[in-house]
Amino acid sequence: MNIRRGHTLLTAAIIMTALASVAGGLGIWHFHNRRPAEPDLPEDYRSLENPLANTSATRDEGMRLFLGKGCAACHGSHADGRGPAAKGLTPPPANFVTGPLLRNHTDAYLFWRISEGKHGTAMPRWDGVLEEKERWAIVTFLRSLEGQ
Ligand code: HEC
Repeated sequence: MNIRRGHTLLTAAIIMTALASVAGGLGIWHFHNRRPAEPDLPEDYRSLENPLANTSATRDEGMRLFLGKGCAACHGSHADGRGPAAKGLTPPPANFVTGPLLRNHTDAYLFWRISEGKHGTAMPRWDGVLEEKERWAIVTFLRSLEGQ
């Protein structure tokens, strides 16, 4: 290989490396931008937003469902994770009242968990049991417990 050709190859390699690192940097930025806190959330759920207006009617409906459809048996009538069926469950049912759960999770995450359950825990799936609108009403109710 003559010297000039070697030089050209070296320059090309340097340019390629620089481009790759810029692209990588953009990729990382893009990644963080799209999913700030929910690495587990499946793609199908990522862009979902609560379609219901955050009114007292929606919150009341969510509370009625939470108390009436079996959530309270495990999560407790105060949503603190201390329902009558919580005894002996590992992990225990989620506590929505104290602790960082609501702060750490988006509505789409809550909707996903309610819809599909949580593998490896006693949390059942509610897709097919509760209507989509009902699941979102529960999300609205749970969200209203934040900071109380
Ligand atoms: C048989 C008991 C049981 C019932 C009934 C139940 N859950 Fe759960 N739930 C759990 C357990 C256990 C977890 C797992 C907690 C954990 O991962 O720390 C959980 C987790 C969750 C989570 C996710 C919390 C997280 O940090 O990932 C949400 C949201 C939730 N439940 C909402 C509901 C709603 C709404 C209902 C009713 C429609 C319901 N659950 C019914 C036991 C139950």
